[in-house]
Amino acid sequence: MERREILKNKISESKLGGGEKRIEAQHSKGKLTARERLDLLLDRHSFEEIGAFVKHRSTDFGLDKQHYPGDGVVTGYGTINGRLVYVFSQDFTVFGGSLSETHAEKICKIMDMAMKNGAPVIGLNDSGGARIQEGVVSLGGYADIFYRNTLASGVIPQISAIMGPCAGGAVYSPAITDFILMVEDTSYMFVTGPNVVKTVTNEEVSSEDLGGASVHSEKSGVAHLTAGNDVEAIEEIKTLLSYMPQNCEDPSPSVPYELGDESRPELASIVPENANLPYDIREVINGVIDKESFFEVHENFAPNIVVGFARLAGKSIGVVANQPAYLAGVLDVNSSQKGARFVRFCDCFNIPLLVFEDVPGFLPGTDQEWNAIITNGAKLLYAFSEATVPRITVITRKAYGGAYDVMNSKHIGADMNFAWPSAEIAVMGAKGAAEIIFRREIADSDNPEEALKEKEAEYAGIFANPYRAAERGFIDEVIFPEDTRFKLIKAFKMLENKVDKLPAKKHGNIPL
Ligand code: HXC
Repeated sequence: MERREILKNKISESKLGGGEKRIEAQHSKGKLTARERLDLLLDRHSFEEIGAFVKHRSTDFGLDKQHYPGDGVVTGYGTINGRLVYVFSQDFTVFGGSLSETHAEKICKIMDMAMKNGAPVIGLNDSGGARIQEGVVSLGGYADIFYRNTLASGVIPQISAIMGPCAGGAVYSPAITDFILMVEDTSYMFVTGPNVVKTVTNEEVSSEDLGGASVHSEKSGVAHLTAGNDVEAIEEIKTLLSYMPQNCEDPSPSVPYELGDESRPELASIVPENANLPYDIREVINGVIDKESFFEVHENFAPNIVVGFARLAGKSIGVVANQPAYLAGVLDVNSSQKGARFVRFCDCFNIPLLVFEDVPGFLPGTDQEWNAIITNGAKLLYAFSEATVPRITVITRKAYGGAYDVMNSKHIGADMNFAWPSAEIAVMGAKGAAEIIFRREIADSDNPEEALKEKEAEYAGIFANPYRAAERGFIDEVIFPEDTRFKLIKAFKMLENKVDKLPAKKHGNIPL
């Protein structure tokens, strides 16, 4: 055969993956193929494949007679909106996308290139796990990937989409990456599947109930994002990426923006007069940031804190906000973990942090204490304290107790701290405070109920405002809500060249 023909045939063989029948089966499950997914993800004609002819080296269990060029994963590089990314897309039509020694080598190769060239890695996962016929070399391949995921952490952004099965130890690669997105109904993640669960614990559970997209986005918090199908998932990845720089050396990305009238009168009527009434902090976020720029992550997990990316005057920022509309915005185990992980991501990649604070404190109770609210609350405190990116806080209402310290206070290194006139900055709410410090007076009075009310009002008069903190300089300025956007634009601009170094150390020891 002519040499050019040989190459042509090899290319088509590789493109066909596991063959037409298996491609049909993939489509019938509502899933796209590995290559179709990459076509949607990357700019037109930008994809360059690496390793299309790689074959496995196994001979056991008849594998010497079964070869599919590419070996179950399509790897390479391309661009998304003009920006370089490295990608791998597992091909379920080839041995169920299972990971062989060579399949792992292909992934490692593009990860090494991504590290050297400072560009994000996006992994589209759809795999039956370790290539069962290969045994330990497959396990070794996984470990090679985990090791690289760890080394790349904080150097380049790593995004994992789970678009089919992801089971056993295979879950630990996505788990180390920065963001996990799961496709509803067609993807699941678990360390041990329903059969093993049944054998060990006698519990009967479906794959979906054990590790489907809703479980991991609501209960475990493993998944940061979900999508209705493959197409939506890919759109979400592109949007997520648009807020991130290429690597830890690059500044936070921006889009062009021209200053205009930055006053936002609607911000003045969001916080209710009655401090015990809820409101949706997203109204504040959306009122402050560039129109329709909020990209929330971890939306359904620990809704008492809201985290996500946004743009302010065109520049990417990370937003962390207590949510008074859910559990009064209290900090608990899950919300502390969620906030801490997000703060650390932003700090790794030079994305400035904007915090909106309305928090009544930490959630009391045995459940919280037994689940280590001490250790978990400390994660958020540590993450903020360690962050060297520009950091600004706006206290919209309550800033009580330890939560005041934790939520990016001046004392732990925030650069600018603003408060609205509705702010209440105190050790605790006025009623609780009065009950403790005036207990004797109240008990001895002729009308304890009236006495409590009086003392509560006295305490509130002194502390249920932002001025004590402003007198100390803990708050840099008390501002009118409608001016918040413009104040923030100016403050972040002022902080653009901030240089802040942590003490020399090997690495800190965040309370994990
Ligand atoms: C080799 C595999 C495979 C695997 C699937 N296939 N998983 N081949 N190694 N791990 C092959 C099947 O033989 C089949 O080949 C094709 O892929 C499609 O699989 P089906 O079973 O027909 O598909 P489906 O019904 O959709 O079920 C998908 C599945 C199931 C749920 C993933 O295949 C399955 O349970 N696979 C085994 C999962 C597993 O136990 N993996 C090892 C986990 S331990 P044909 O030729 O018929 O198309 C692990 C350890 C990692 O991963 C440790 C790292 C530290």
